Amino acid sequence: MNSKSNTSVPPRLRAEVESILITEDQLARRIKVLAGEIEDDFRGHEMVVVSLLSGTVMFLADLIRHLNLPLRLDFIGVSSYGAGTESGELVFTKELRIDVRNRDVLLVDDILDTGKTLSRVLPKLKALKPRRIKTCVLLNKAARRVENIKADYVGFEIPDFFVIGYGLDFAERYRNLPFVGVLHPHIYKEVSQQVLKK
Ligand code: PRP
Repeated sequence: MNSKSNTSVPPRLRAEVESILITEDQLARRIKVLAGEIEDDFRGHEMVVVSLLSGTVMFLADLIRHLNLPLRLDFIGVSSYGAGTESGELVFTKELRIDVRNRDVLLVDDILDTGKTLSRVLPKLKALKPRRIKTCVLLNKAARRVENIKADYVGFEIPDFFVIGYGLDFAERYRNLPFVGVLHPHIYKEVSQQVLKK
C-alpha cells in the first residue's frame, strides 16, 4: 500500500482524518486471505491465539471468525505510546493466563512499527516453551523499524503515516472507525505541544 486512498472521509471526521488509507472492503478481503494462509499452516494442531491489547480488537475479531480451526484465545496487555505518537516505555497491564507449553501460538498485533513491542513480548512468550510461535500483524510500517524483527503474516505494508481506526488509536480515540485512516498532523502536533509545555 503506497499511497493514500481516494475514498472520501465521512464529513464529521474531515477536520481530524486526512484520508482513508485502507477501506472496510479492502480490510475484509485481505483478512479473509490472511486467515486462509494461517489456517493452512496451523492445521492439525489446536492453536492458541495470543492477542495484544488494545489495538487488535477489530482485526482479531475479524481474523478469528475466518479461522476454521480449534483454537483458544488469550490476551497480553502491553502499552507504549501514552498520549503521544512516539514509542516510549513498555508497560505490561495483563499477563497471559492460558498455558502455551508445547502449543502452536499465533501472536497477533495491529501494527508493527519500531518493533519494540514484539521484541519485548516474543522472548516472554518463548520462555513459556510453546511448540512454535508465528506472528501476525495487520499493518507493517517498515520505515520506522529500530528492532530487527519481521512478522510471519502481514496484512498490509504501509508508509510512515500516523494511522488510526480499525482498532488503532491516537490518545485512545478513533479505535471505532471501520477503516484505517491517516490522522491530520495538526491533531498530534497540538497534543505534542501541550505535553511539551507541561
Ligand atoms: C501500539 C500497537 C502495537 C505497538 C507497535 O500499541 O498496538 O502494539 O504500538 O509499536 P512498536 O512496534 O513501535 O512497538 P500501543 O502501545 O499504542 O497500545 P494499544 O494497542 O493499546 O494502542
